[in-house]
Amino acid sequence: MYTLITGGLGFIGSRLAYELTARGEEVFLLDNLSPQIHGDKPVFPLLELPKIRFLQGDVTDLVALEVALAKAKAVVHLAAETGTAQSMYELAKYNAINSQGTALLLDYLVNKPHAVQKVVLASSRSVYGESAYLCAMDGMVTPHPRNYLALLNKQWNPVCPVCGGNIERMATPEQARVYPASIYAATKYAQEDLVRIACASASIAASILRFQNVYGAGQSLHNPYTGILSIFSTRIRKQKTIPIFEDGLESRDFVHVNDVVKAIIAALDSTDANSIVLNVGSGVPSSVLKVANLLFAALSGSEISRPTVSEQFRVGDIRHGYADIRQIQKILGWQPTVTLETGIAEFAAWVESQPLPEDRLDAALAELKAKRMGA
Ligand SMILES: NC(=O)c1ccc[n+]([C@@H]2O[C@H](COP(=O)([O-])OP(=O)(O)OC[C@H]3O[C@@H](n4cnc5c(N)ncnc54)[C@H](O)[C@@H]3O)[C@@H](O)[C@H]2O)c1
Ligand SMILES: [Zn+2]
Repeated sequence: MYTLITGGLGFIGSRLAYELTARGEEVFLLDNLSPQIHGDKPVFPLLELPKIRFLQGDVTDLVALEVALAKAKAVVHLAAETGTAQSMYELAKYNAINSQGTALLLDYLVNKPHAVQKVVLASSRSVYGESAYLCAMDGMVTPHPRNYLALLNKQWNPVCPVCGGNIERMATPEQARVYPASIYAATKYAQEDLVRIACASASIAASILRFQNVYGAGQSLHNPYTGILSIFSTRIRKQKTIPIFEDGLESRDFVHVNDVVKAIIAALDSTDANSIVLNVGSGVPSSVLKVANLLFAALSGSEISRPTVSEQFRVGDIRHGYADIRQIQKILGWQPTVTLETGIAEFAAWVESQPLPEDRLDAALAELKAKRMGA
């Protein structure tokens, strides 16, 4: 028996596979080796390990799913399209892979014989949309997504959806309102509902983990649509400016991949994590400008690529977001252990050991602009 990891050759999946095999476990990886993520000629030393089985296949292909699920005792479902901005104009593709791919997997588990006892789903903080804010008048609120015109007028901060007044960001707890602001987020939330309902009906234990911004060595350097540290690192190495969107004060919760892998393994192991949704984050907000500057220093960037506030924006991006991690601390005894400074140093050292990828950021941004999804 093995643990099936869909998207198992991706950033999080491959780290998880290394960890599980180090514990002596058998692992099966199902991955379609998407060129947007892996480039044209990927190499995977992971596949040389004796406890790893691999099938190049798609989660939307029933035959591939059948092979991958044959001896699975648990499934960690990671395979997905992950570009927030790209999802805004590739709606059908995101729905087909993220929502329908998950439905097909669950359809198999509900209708065919199998030995799967646990499903762990990689969900995302994006399901919260603008995340939780505090209004002095109205308490915890979830603002409406910022629209194209508001962003064009540099109205970066969302306002209270009840009174229209100013609001302060706060750590988002799991019980905050779910309010996706992008198609990507909508499909992640669809995955959550599908897993929760289908697994309950088939008496399979399920844990849903909402990751914040995961970073670390191994994140795709090819994908121009997601992974800001990867995108920024290529700009620095190519001696191009790092355009910092909005006013640079937008913030995210950066959680290191090693901590995320520990959370997935804890969820796989724990019966206390069954049937629940847990945030996985550092619990600390960091502005994008600060993170870019840390990376710039770690990679000894030349003056030309110093992070510069560009006031560009993308529809579907959120202003702030960071996790309230009290539940996962309590239920799984899980703690983030990697500080941003240590994590960025590790990431920078890894980047420098990698071949220099193509920089496709400008093309991706031009695509967005043409579709009036950004400026
Ligand atoms: N990295 C983050 O910051 C983050 C944050 C929140 C949630 N997540 C979620 O975690 C999961 C893993 O993310 P990641 O950062 O490792 O992404 P990644 O892009 O590095 O890995 C995804 C893997 O899935 C594979 N894949 C894509 N489409 C597939 C398909 N149709 N069939 C089979 N394989 C397919 C890709 O080839 C890739 O190897 C995703 O579900 C993502 O939504 C990631
Ligand atoms: Zn209010």
